[in-house]
Amino acid sequence: MSIQTVIMAAGKGTRMHSDLPKVLHPILGKPMLWYSIQAVREVQDALPAVVIGHQAEAVRQAVDGLARFVVQEKQDGTAHAVLQTRTVLENQADIILVTSADMPLISGETLQTLAETQRTHSGPMSLLVAEAQDARGFGRILRDENGMVQAIVEETDATQEQRAIRLLNVGVYAFDAAWLWENLPRVPVSPKGEYYITSLIDMAVSAGQQVQPVVLSDLDEIIGVNTRVHLAEATAAMQRRINRRWMLSGVTMISPQDTWIEPQVTLGQDTILWPNTHLKGRTTVGQGCEIGPNTIVQDTVIGNRCKIVASVLESAVLEDDVDIGPFGHLRKGAHLAQGVHMGNFGEVKNSYLGPGSKMGHFSYLGDATLGPNVNVGAGTITCNYDGERKHPTTIGANAFIGSDTMLVAPVIIGDNARTGAGAVVTRNVPENSLAVGVPARVIRKFENRGK
Ligand code: UD1
Ligand code: CA
Repeated sequence: MSIQTVIMAAGKGTRMHSDLPKVLHPILGKPMLWYSIQAVREVQDALPAVVIGHQAEAVRQAVDGLARFVVQEKQDGTAHAVLQTRTVLENQADIILVTSADMPLISGETLQTLAETQRTHSGPMSLLVAEAQDARGFGRILRDENGMVQAIVEETDATQEQRAIRLLNVGVYAFDAAWLWENLPRVPVSPKGEYYITSLIDMAVSAGQQVQPVVLSDLDEIIGVNTRVHLAEATAAMQRRINRRWMLSGVTMISPQDTWIEPQVTLGQDTILWPNTHLKGRTTVGQGCEIGPNTIVQDTVIGNRCKIVASVLESAVLEDDVDIGPFGHLRKGAHLAQGVHMGNFGEVKNSYLGPGSKMGHFSYLGDATLGPNVNVGAGTITCNYDGERKHPTTIGANAFIGSDTMLVAPVIIGDNARTGAGAVVTRNVPENSLAVGVPARVIRKFENRGK
């Protein structure tokens, strides 16, 4: 059985009241449409055909490379939207799945079940239905006395009696491909001047064919987004889904509803997340870590057994056994080797801190390379920027940088060297030497301490 999928995403989303197309509104850092594409990729290798129209270029760019795009110049309805994909999809598959980009919670598993249902029954189409108290403006499913699906009536066209029906059209379908391409062009125009995909049900039924419903039991999946109230509901549901998956695989969350993990993040077993932790982008976290409370981590690789409290990490790398915070800030290119300790009010940018190095209090390191076991005294600053260019600082193994040292880059501090409190270092300090003062000068050479 081969499957191809259409994702409808051409509508404007008027009720969002936004300059951004509805399907690009983010849910946990990714555009809504991205989630539909992910779900489709769980059931087929081929890229889905995404129907775009309103702000087509912006939508295309947001998910470029993840889909094939078909432009629907005028949004003449859901049947018209699917018909646009015919040139791309005809003769490519036995089954065509159709879903919408404003239904981001529909799972790959559900799409799989729907396709499987269509494959194993003789009728031309199957559709997802749900029984829900909140009708959300969905189309109502009309059935005959035997419970067979007869038609779908849109809420706006429904009678009082029909509106009371609680069996809803989720808006996700599986079709026999040949039947679909044959019948789509025959869909009649509605009184509103649109071509509804739901008319295909009437057409199948009046031709004496059976339409197979598949009942969705997880009501989170039917959260469709038409307003920003729905967007918040969808975000909360996605958060629950992602957090649940990590908890079941061995991650502790003290308060899951206050823990925000974006979909591409990975976490190791026995890691503990405290409230108000935000893990974003391509972040990966190892085993046995403790993160938060009040921590934001973006695109960062964190090793095992790291501890991070009330800090902000962006595009950084932490090896194992690193501890940071409270109030640490790692910026792009910060690389903390095994066992580094970074205490309160530190900032590190584009720098490597060797294994076991310590930076306890109120320091800035930018464009610096530190060897192992360096002690960075309180208030140490790399003066890496002269107003025009950035310059590097190098600090050798076991060096001891005194409190409030200004390292005026470019500058090199040798292995085992020391600086006195308040030194302003403008020239290189050789290994095994002590430099003090403003500007700092060497006043003593040590025996090579060898360590
Ligand atoms: C549709 C269904 C309704 C179902 C509901 C579930 C129809 C006629 N009605 O209504 O029975 O309960 O979905 O969510 O299908 N789109 C296009 N091009 C168009 C029109 C729409 O790409 O010309 C896209 C929209 O961007 C959206 C999706 O199709 O992603 C659904 O369209 P929308 O207008 O939201 O339909 P509903 O009124 O929600
Ligand atoms: Ca909708």
